[in-house]
Amino acid sequence: MDKTIKGFSKLSKSDKINWLVDQYLDGDNTAREALQAFWLADDDQQRILDGFSENTITNFPMPFGVAPNFIIDGKPYCIPMVIEESSVVAAAAAAAKFWMTRGGFTTKIIGTTKIGQVHFKWSGNGTKLHEAFSDIKDRLIADTADITSRMRSRGGGITNLELLDFTETEPDLYQIRASFETCDSMGANFINSCLEVFAKSLELFCLEYPTFDENERDVLIIMSILSNFTPDCLVRAEVSCPVSDLGTFAGGIAATDFAHKFSTAVRIAEIDPYRATTHNKGIFNGIDAIVLATGNDFRAIEACGHTYASKDGRYKSLSHCEVKDGRFRFWMDLPLAVGTVGGLTSLHPIARISLQMLGSPSATDLMRIIAVTGLAQNFAALRSLVTTGIQQGHMKMHLLNILNHVGATPPVIAKAVHHFADKVVSFSAVREFVEAS
Ligand code: MEV
Repeated sequence: MDKTIKGFSKLSKSDKINWLVDQYLDGDNTAREALQAFWLADDDQQRILDGFSENTITNFPMPFGVAPNFIIDGKPYCIPMVIEESSVVAAAAAAAKFWMTRGGFTTKIIGTTKIGQVHFKWSGNGTKLHEAFSDIKDRLIADTADITSRMRSRGGGITNLELLDFTETEPDLYQIRASFETCDSMGANFINSCLEVFAKSLELFCLEYPTFDENERDVLIIMSILSNFTPDCLVRAEVSCPVSDLGTFAGGIAATDFAHKFSTAVRIAEIDPYRATTHNKGIFNGIDAIVLATGNDFRAIEACGHTYASKDGRYKSLSHCEVKDGRFRFWMDLPLAVGTVGGLTSLHPIARISLQMLGSPSATDLMRIIAVTGLAQNFAALRSLVTTGIQQGHMKMHLLNILNHVGATPPVIAKAVHHFADKVVSFSAVREFVEAS
């Protein structure tokens, strides 16, 4: 049977579902009803969500949780988190509570520069291109004056233009690397618009520039696009306290032993990429959750974070720990290009509330809050790993998922939670318990 279709995007939402159910879901009416059951009752709200993507047939619900008790630079926060993994929100909340009485989290904005690139080929005398670059720069700035004017009035705009020469690695290959300040917006559209004007202006510049020979008039623009690697859009999040204030841990582990095991765990992630990947995944459990909840681009944030973790030539831990002169210090520098205006931030009805509950932060404030959430998540994961092990907490949270999966009723769920409070949780043990209840 031909399962391809022309003009799918033009079908109504119901017809899209009907086609899908007929062609790919064996006419399953339950699936049809389930897909429709997640449409929003409010048509206007649904239209806004549909506008974010294409060929939408329904919504994909994810849990939206909050982690209270974060103290960041002396101010209290309740962090919104969208995540489907058990125990992430509970772990963030537990880390927040732990540090709440030990000075809270502190942060520092190290930079806010974003980057864009125009990649091009030019087969002339490289020295002449380098000499012409100061004139090229003036031209590019002048030609983008219109599109940068609003950003400049907000204190942003183009902050630097460089010519990079890759001809030793690839014949005739150059790049204009542009730096931007995009204030409270993530800036992707602004940057890409500027870059496309740069590309056109560069072509015209080369056609007209007096010192260029006939064979130097042609520029081949390969592409113009922002870079998601923004190592200078950087924030530091940190916690520290006297080792003795760390207290005693599960199983009676003393503060000094905990500090030693914890810092060794971080050291392992600095040495071994296999561990570093899992360690950083734990950090992104927190980061992605708040980035999603605030309507920012988690793919960009992840891509950038992982590149930053490899900046020394080997993939390493993003966080660091030091135990020195009786003090425990745990911190992370992380590039975070986020926005609190534009994009989904004000259009998505729940993202808007997330930002509201964070006190309508500036982009730099949001960088601080996101980095802290990642550090808290990492602290919670390592604390479990070096004390009780991760499964104890995980399986307790996972218990509810298993109970729902096997169709346990609310009274049986309550009995099971009580029963498994001091027992090992496994899928088969839970199913047997439910069957016997
Ligand atoms: C699980 O989602 C995250 C952890 O594996 C992170 C870590 O090992 O540090 C617990």
